[in-house]
Amino acid sequence: MKTAKELIISIETSCDETAVALVECSGGLESPKFKVLKNGVFSQIAMHREFGGVVPNIAKREHEKMLPVLFSETISDADLKKASLIAVTVGPGLEPALWPGIEFAVRIGKENKLPVFGTNHLKGHLYSFLLSNPRSFKNIFPSVALIASGGHTILLLLKGIEDFRKLGETRDDAAGEAFDKAARLLSLPYPGGPELEKLATSGDPSFIDFPRPMIHQKNYDFSFSGLKTSLLYHIKGTHKGDWKEANHAIAVRASSDMPHAADIAASFQKAVVDSLASKCGKAIREFGAKSLILSGGVAANTLLRSELEKTALKEKAKFLAPEWAFNTDNAAMIAAAGYIEHLKGKKRALKANGNLSL
Ligand code: KG4
Ligand code: ZN
Repeated sequence: MKTAKELIISIETSCDETAVALVECSGGLESPKFKVLKNGVFSQIAMHREFGGVVPNIAKREHEKMLPVLFSETISDADLKKASLIAVTVGPGLEPALWPGIEFAVRIGKENKLPVFGTNHLKGHLYSFLLSNPRSFKNIFPSVALIASGGHTILLLLKGIEDFRKLGETRDDAAGEAFDKAARLLSLPYPGGPELEKLATSGDPSFIDFPRPMIHQKNYDFSFSGLKTSLLYHIKGTHKGDWKEANHAIAVRASSDMPHAADIAASFQKAVVDSLASKCGKAIREFGAKSLILSGGVAANTLLRSELEKTALKEKAKFLAPEWAFNTDNAAMIAAAGYIEHLKGKKRALKANGNLSL
């Protein structure tokens, strides 16, 4: 069935990026297509850096301040007249950060007589590959999808775009969180993932043989907190000891240059990537998947992308990942998720839900 083109305005404020987009959506559920016309992002990273992580109340304050500015810079009156819907993230995420986005969307919706649709941030990540792969939608199912972000690490099996089930997820830290915590132990600034990747570029990934947690287990779950503990003990120079004592040792060492920091970073990164790639490969084989979809902020990691691409190719599956601008949090992906969920007839309360699941 052919459906008319729709213009969707989208708003995302679930963490530390204020984002607004305008996306032309068409094709219906059979073959959804997206053309990102405008994609505005204001990053709060500089504001949170001195605290070593995202501070919810600062995030809220900055979203309140920046959203009206970004919105008027990105969306014109003509866009508002042509749009059919406003999609706004209602979760998961930091609730104080979600509130200003939802309030703003409701106000703009009322003023312009536009319906407002509550959207799931994780669906946004999941569908972000569609923003830049207009033709790759054909023959991709069944598909295995990995969402790896700062708050989630989830492996899914998709039979269709809106027909999926969870195969597994992390039992403790998310992959992005593991990168962020490891980076902190290596005295790198927030957000740790990209900083750790930069440092790892000049390092030897075989320098330390970190554990690959759960790699030999039959399930599709992940675990990264043991890996972080291994890193901590390695930096401390012992494999035994008390966590608090070890933390103290790190704080003392943080001021001096850590020997082999690049090798440690490269070894840690390789261990995380191997854990993710091994479960993806296993799932592709077990379910005869025709594609592997990667998304979430950690999809910006070059090693992860190349290893997952190799994993997919080895199993004769297509590798699908968003283009760089759509890996980390953005609003264009929220328009894509809003379009698909809206067509599916999904309804969500316009209320922040920090723990909203897929
Ligand atoms: O999807 P995202 O922007 O926000 C959440 O929904 O959580 O993901 C952010 C996470 C952070 O943990 C960040 O360190 C990680 O993605 N990340 C990376 C890289 N770029 C971002 N991790 C590893 N390598 C990267 N290049
Ligand atoms: Zn995200």
